[in-house]
Amino acid sequence: MSLYRIFVRLASATAIATALCGNALAGEPLKAGFLYIGPTGDHGWTYSHDMGRKALEAKQGDKVKTTFVENVPETADAERVIRDLATKGHKVIFATSFGYMNSMEKVARQFPKTVFMHATGYKTGKNLGVYDIRTYEGAYMLGVVAGKMSKSGKLGVVGSIAIPEVVRNVNAFTIGARSVNPKVTTRVIWVNTWFDPGKEREAALTLISQGVDVLMQNTNSPATVQAAQEKGVYAFGVDSDMSKFGGKAQLAASVLNWGVIYNEQVEKIQKGEWKTTDIWYGVKEGAINIEAFGPATPAPVKKLAEERRDAIKAGKLHPFTGPLKDNTGKILVAAGKTLSDADLRKMNVYVEGVEGTVPK
Ligand code: GUN
Repeated sequence: MSLYRIFVRLASATAIATALCGNALAGEPLKAGFLYIGPTGDHGWTYSHDMGRKALEAKQGDKVKTTFVENVPETADAERVIRDLATKGHKVIFATSFGYMNSMEKVARQFPKTVFMHATGYKTGKNLGVYDIRTYEGAYMLGVVAGKMSKSGKLGVVGSIAIPEVVRNVNAFTIGARSVNPKVTTRVIWVNTWFDPGKEREAALTLISQGVDVLMQNTNSPATVQAAQEKGVYAFGVDSDMSKFGGKAQLAASVLNWGVIYNEQVEKIQKGEWKTTDIWYGVKEGAINIEAFGPATPAPVKKLAEERRDAIKAGKLHPFTGPLKDNTGKILVAAGKTLSDADLRKMNVYVEGVEGTVPK
């Protein structure tokens, strides 16, 4: 391509990008701001987002400049932080917890030239998109390992906040486990917060004292893995590899790769091609994987989990394919049918095998 044509291409791409993203000057790095609910050192959810931010920097080099704000509660504080990032010229703001949703919606209306991307939410607008990872695929794969490894037949989940995303993960974990051992049951303790290592630990210890010998969590810290290690039972890295906190206890980890989404979205903005979006990537798109198997996991169990992963990737397996009943015996999904994404996003009952009822 001639230099002149390269110049024309670059110039037109910049013109479109400038129109969409405000008055970014050509050659200036695109400023991307990140809101985190916990510290980057949580070694779980926030850590995984921060790895994604670093993957963005690694790929985009001096084309981006990133900022992050840690420990932002899901309150009016979030609105203040989001507005502050927008005011300071961030052209895209990634807010990485469900409870930031209304704050994002409000500030997005006030800054129409800024792109707002909200993780795990469902409200979209012209300049407000949502993105998420199919964490239930990870929970299912961990469940397969849990079902194989439990001796007591009692699995436990340290639940965060009882929104459909987390209920779905509890269910997927149980479906995975019962696919290899139909006798296992799951007990959930809800801590009503995403990140509180003290409460997460208490819940894990309570579950263990009740006979649970394999734990999963949907909270953000490795406290569950640490408690499992102390008590000589099994657990999983969730969102990130947590083997540093319980090398003997961790059977495997479901690891998130947000970098796929951060790079894709920023590249779209830079090319002036960004439009509002609703992203839900999974194993197929390289956004989630089962890895970091621990020394306690026998090779055939690892192999089985990886086969299930490959089947999900190939579109041959979906954790929510029927026949599936809820835990009152009502048919949730008929044989041969698979829940739609819309139904997955509304999930508010437990499947067969989970004890109790979903808190209101
Ligand atoms: N883990 C899974 N989903 C979420 C979420 O929306 N917020 C936080 N903080 N942690 C999560």
